[in-house]
Amino acid sequence: MQRIFSGIQPSGVPTLGNYLGAIRNWVALQTDHECLWCVVDLHAITVWQDPAQLRRQTREMAATLIACGIDPARHILFPQSAVPAHARLAWIFNCVARLGWLNRMTQFKDKAGKDREAASAGLYVYPNLMAADIHAYHATRVPVGDDQKQHLELANDIAQKFNHDYEVSYFPVIEPLILGPAARVMSLRDGSRKMSKSDPSDQSRINLNDDADTIALKIRRAKTDPEPLPDDPAALDARPEARNLVGIYAALSGQTAAQVLAIHGGQGFGAFKQALTDLLVGCIEPIGQQAQRLLTDTAALDAILRDGAARARAIAEPIVDEAERLVGFLKV
Ligand code: AMP
Ligand code: TRP
Repeated sequence: MQRIFSGIQPSGVPTLGNYLGAIRNWVALQTDHECLWCVVDLHAITVWQDPAQLRRQTREMAATLIACGIDPARHILFPQSAVPAHARLAWIFNCVARLGWLNRMTQFKDKAGKDREAASAGLYVYPNLMAADIHAYHATRVPVGDDQKQHLELANDIAQKFNHDYEVSYFPVIEPLILGPAARVMSLRDGSRKMSKSDPSDQSRINLNDDADTIALKIRRAKTDPEPLPDDPAALDARPEARNLVGIYAALSGQTAAQVLAIHGGQGFGAFKQALTDLLVGCIEPIGQQAQRLLTDTAALDAILRDGAARARAIAEPIVDEAERLVGFLKV
């Protein structure tokens, strides 16, 4: 059985984009893989996080993942900082990866923005830590959104250079799993931007803890155009906001865009938005309510994560111990 690893940052409440682009696929992968699901708090602090809020968001993320169907008993769910092997291997990888490789990473350029001098050193070496997350478990399959593909290529380059430099074949090749046609959910305010938990406008996204009234209001206010919905999906190409709403409807109902338009084509947005709201509320509201229940007992939730971390450590520690031996550390 192949081992899967994926991570998600506790940098906000997870959104509908996270659900359709990542979490829903993770849940499906659990049936025939051994899975590790990591709330990556070490990655989160590459940009400033308020400590109390980081703690709260780490629990919220874990509770939401469980509410979505992540199974912490049959698989492993844990906070990254609870397994020191990640940081140990990341240091070795900092010394394997070349500056030239990191300089090509587009996410660093995006996140650092214009004032690169002011970005943290952690943000720069972030991809090395991500490589360590995966290789610390000898995981071979990694479900991510397409924005993370470049980081996985780097993780393979690092593994290859490590194996070459130390004359071993210790770290396996990892395969990105870029899943689903609905892999990209766009902002409700701007059809050209990704829906993101860090967007300053809460109206731009559906949070997985939004209640029915909030969801209804956000969909009612979602940007559209004055035309009714077309019958032909090709006609959506020039209408990014309409395409996004049809795409969300299709993903949630398990249909293609063509099937959605066969029913809703010709309708104005008033009627379609009502149908979309009903679908969203039916799917999202139970997740938010279940997460809320889990968050009322933080001791029980922390116990689940502590158990996950212990099982993660049991896998990662021997793998990273051996990597340190290969490097030549005197393991006294
Ligand atoms: P992030 O929210 O950037 O920490 O991403 C966590 C996971 O959710 C990654 O696998 C992303 O590719 C995925 N993801 C984030 N936002 C979206 C979106 N708007 N549409 C689809 N997938 C997304
Ligand atoms: N960088 C990923 C993101 O922002 C999160 C992440 C960290 C991750 N470590 C990982 C994803 C390891 C897959 C595997 O979405």
